[in-house]
Formats: sequence, structure tokens, C-alpha cells
Amino acid sequence: MLNEPVVGDEFFDRTDLMKNLGLRSEQMLSGNRRNIGLIGLRKVGKTSIIWEFMRQNSHFVHNYIYIKEKPTKTMFRKILGSVLYACMEHFDVGTDQIWMTTDKNLKELAMRWVQVDPMIAKLSFEIRDAINEDAESEELLDLILGLIKKLSEYKETSNQKPLVLIFDEFQNFALWGDNILETLRENLMMQKNVWWIVAGSSISMMENIINASSSPLYGHFETIYVGPFEYSDARTYLTSTLDGILISETHLSYIIDITGGYPYYLASIGLKLCDIAQDWNVHDISKNALLEAIAQDVFYRSGNIYKHCHQLIVNSLEKKGLDTYLTILSAIALGNHRFSEIARYVEKPGSSLTYPLERLIASDLIVKNDKRYDLADPILALWLKHVYILREESYIPELELKLDVFKSQISQMIDDFKDELGHARESQIREIFTKKGYTVASGNIGKDEFDLIIDGDEGLILGEVKAGNVNTDQVYKLLDKVKRIKKVRAVGKVILFALFGSSEQAKRSCIENEIEIWDIEKVNNERKRLGLVRLKM
Ligand SMILES: Nc1ncnc2c1ncn2[C@@H]1O[C@H](COP(=O)(O)OP(=O)(O)OP(=O)(O)O)[C@@H](O)[C@H]1O
Ligand SMILES: [Mg+2]
Repeated sequence: MLNEPVVGDEFFDRTDLMKNLGLRSEQMLSGNRRNIGLIGLRKVGKTSIIWEFMRQNSHFVHNYIYIKEKPTKTMFRKILGSVLYACMEHFDVGTDQIWMTTDKNLKELAMRWVQVDPMIAKLSFEIRDAINEDAESEELLDLILGLIKKLSEYKETSNQKPLVLIFDEFQNFALWGDNILETLRENLMMQKNVWWIVAGSSISMMENIINASSSPLYGHFETIYVGPFEYSDARTYLTSTLDGILISETHLSYIIDITGGYPYYLASIGLKLCDIAQDWNVHDISKNALLEAIAQDVFYRSGNIYKHCHQLIVNSLEKKGLDTYLTILSAIALGNHRFSEIARYVEKPGSSLTYPLERLIASDLIVKNDKRYDLADPILALWLKHVYILREESYIPELELKLDVFKSQISQMIDDFKDELGHARESQIREIFTKKGYTVASGNIGKDEFDLIIDGDEGLILGEVKAGNVNTDQVYKLLDKVKRIKKVRAVGKVILFALFGSSEQAKRSCIENEIEIWDIEKVNNERKRLGLVRLKM
């Protein structure tokens, strides 16, 4: 499902992160509270993690509060409603219906609680009066915190489940004013038995709120950064969204590369590929099908990724000066990473760039590392470079023509990626043997080319790297090459690196012909043994 947080079967992996949260929840249950701050870029999967955690942890009462924007009176009423609802859930009454936050409902929720526990009648009447008198935000906030306090006291005096207070898009709280953080801190300190989990997609704001020593909340949260999927998870996830549709390893790697492993983009392109396979009635993703999927998702205004990139920019930045922001972003997308390069591209004096660059960093669109500016989001970089500039800034008038240009640029990119990837893999395989102390080469012997050539004591060691399922034909071709070499040189060993597997027949002919066959496991084990990182896929 796109654009909605995912839980249960749809929620993929995040094993380490979920384990970490699970550990914290056990600690909380045994009286050792560590509040959590989840920080990660937009759409990285924070809300999914929270919802999945809630689903898996029924030994807590969850109070999930989504701070959509700068809190207003309406927002506080909604929060009040959701805290009241959590109270009802706490006592297992009245949660069998949907409660809209109308005045009538809020009052009814408050009054229901009186019936359950007359001890808090006072608070309930206060809530009723506040609604009747259309109370201001401050008063509503006091009532909310008062309710949470009451809930936490129940925990102390009874065997009730402990309360987890979850604030999603927590940074929006800070927009309301400085004193709110101080108020939250006081409550957080007082109620040691309420566990706080907060999440936010504005990285710089979240850092300022929970990790800056000047913030009232400093030291009260442990930060967990939510990043994209690792390569192997991204691969498994993408393959599972394709649901049996075949795709080459190179194309898989390419998609993971351009999406940076962010689940939202993987899901979006994966679903598009499924649509295309269905429309074209094919079971196999050709390069053309891949190009079409990327075009539909990224190039067309109706595409998910197009819309997302567009909104990301429009929502993160103010309208005034948007053109300058876009030009700076385009400059970086086109490979201008230094201040002077950006100034040259923008054709403006450097002094006028300081503020917009700071804004772009504060809004998490770009990151600055050691005087180098980069786009934070790989898909946004691709969109700016290959879509925005082409669609909005080029002089090509027809959309069809622009689409052709787009597809040919992406096609070239896929080819370059394939070449680069091949070279990277081969050199990482050669590295294994260099590390073992051999002098390693690659290239031609006569007219035959090899990816690995070692002049060993027992004759030549020759190797060939294959990125694709190896079949018997390929084994025989390799054998032919080796036969030719054997006429002039002694060959000690031949290794076939079948990184993406091989057919059973191919394996058998390798064994019959004394060719060693190394699969990805073997390559990575060797690399690990020698202290090298796993193979770059
Ligand atoms: N663990 C996951 N398994 C499968 N898909 C995921 C996962 N996490 C995220 N996604 C995909 O990414 C999308 C966005 O996820 P989610 O809403 O949880 O992110 P978020 O970080 O809360 O985003 P936002 O910044 O919009 O609040 C989901 O709709 C889903 O397609
Ligand atoms: Mg979210």
C-alpha cells in the first residue's frame, strides 16, 4: 500500500530496529524507562514502525497522537479527544464505535469516564466546561496533560497496563512556542511510568528539540535514526512486491541504486512494474518495461514519485524565492557541489546564496558535508536532473519529445550503471587475491579475455566473473578459452564466479571439467575472512 503506513504482513523487516524497540519496551516494563525519538526523512517509514510496534505490543496502552501541523485550538481538541479515547480503552469501555471530535462527543467521552471512576469527576467536569466555553489552547493542553497524569497514576495504584504516549511529527509541537517544550519536560519528569515515543521527519528540527543541549528536552530521549533499507533487504522487499515477475539482477540493483533503498520509492516503482507487466501481458521485465515504469512514475505529473518530489519541494519551502531554491537544487543535481560552482551556475553573487542554502539545509533537502553540498534524497536528485530541468527549463516544446529524451537519458544511465557495477564487482573479486599476496591482473591473453589472471607457482590462475544465472553454454565458452591458453601456457586453476547462481547442469559441467565455481556466499566469506567488506552489488 502506498501513501499509508503499513503494518502486519505488509510491514517488511526492520528487524534490528524492531528488536531495539522491543528491548526498550522490556526495560520499560521492568521499570527502566528510556524515551525514544525516531528521526528519519519523509516517507522513510517512521509511522509504519510505530504502528507495527503498537500492533506487536499489546501489553501497553497506546496513546498515538499525530501532530499534523502547528498545534491550534482545533488540534488540541483532537488530541484531547484521542487521550480521552485512550482512557476509555484503558478501562475497556466505549471503544467499539468511531468518535469524531465534535463538541458533543468530547463531552460525552469525558462524562463516560466519570461513570467509570468517580474519583476523576472533577477533571471530567473541567473538560466539559472547557468545551462549552470554547477554551484556548493553553487550557486544553493543561487538561490533556492532567488526563495523562491521571492515567499514569492508575498505573501506580493498580495492575493496569502501562501507558505509551506516542507523538508523531513531534517537531510541530515546537512551532507553538518555546514554553511548550518546558511544559512537556515537566510532565515527562513527573510521570516516570509513562513511556514517551516521539517521531519526526524534520531532521534538523527534531535534532534541535531532542539532541541540542539548549533544548528543555535535552537528555530525555534516546535517538533512533530511521534510514533506508540495506541492500539485501531492499532486494528481498522489491522482489516480493514483484510477486513472481522476473527481473534481471542488474535492473534490480539499478532500482535500488536510484531509490537509495527507501521503501516508499521501492514500493512505488515495484507497483508500477507490476502494472506494466499486466498491461503488456508479460512475466519478465525487459529494459523497455523498466524505462516505461520509471517514466510513468517519475516523468509524468500523474506519477507517484513525480507528485512526491514536487510536493516535497513546495511543502518544504516558502513560495517567495522558490525559483532561486529550484535553481540551486538543480545546480546540485547537475553535479555542482561546491559553493563557487553553485554560484557560477545560479549566476548570482555568492553572498546572496548563503541564506537560501541555509534554508535548504534546514528543510532537509540538502546536506552539507565538508564544504560539499549534496541532495539528501537520491530520487529527488534524479527527478531534478532528468525531469524538472527537462520539463520546466528546456526549450523542447513537445511533451512526447521530452519523454523520448528522458527515456534515452535513463537508458544511458542504466547502461553506465551496468558497466560500472561490473567493473566494481570484478575489482572487488581481484582484491581477494591481492589480499592473499598474489600479483593480480585482468585483460587479454592472446585474444582471450579474463577478469582474473594470476601467474602462480603451479601455473596460471584464471577467473571469469558472471553477473547473471550461468548456463552450460557459458561454461563451454570458458572451457574453449582455457583450452587455447593451455596450448601455450600451464594453467593451474580456473575459477568461475557465478555471483547470481548457475544452473544444475552448469554446475555439473564445471565439476566434470575441474573448474571451481564460486557463488556469492563463497566470495563474501572469503572477503570476510580477509577483513574486506561484502561485495558491492
Ligand atoms: N517497513 C516497511 N515495509 C514496507 N513498506 C514500507 C515500510 N516502511 C515504509 N514503507 C513504504 O513507505 C511508505 C511510507 O511509510 P510511512 O508512512 O510509515 O513513512 P513515514 O516516515 O511515517 O512518512 P511521513 O514522513 O510521510 O510521515 C508506506 O506507504 C510504504 O509504502
Ligand atoms: Mg509518518
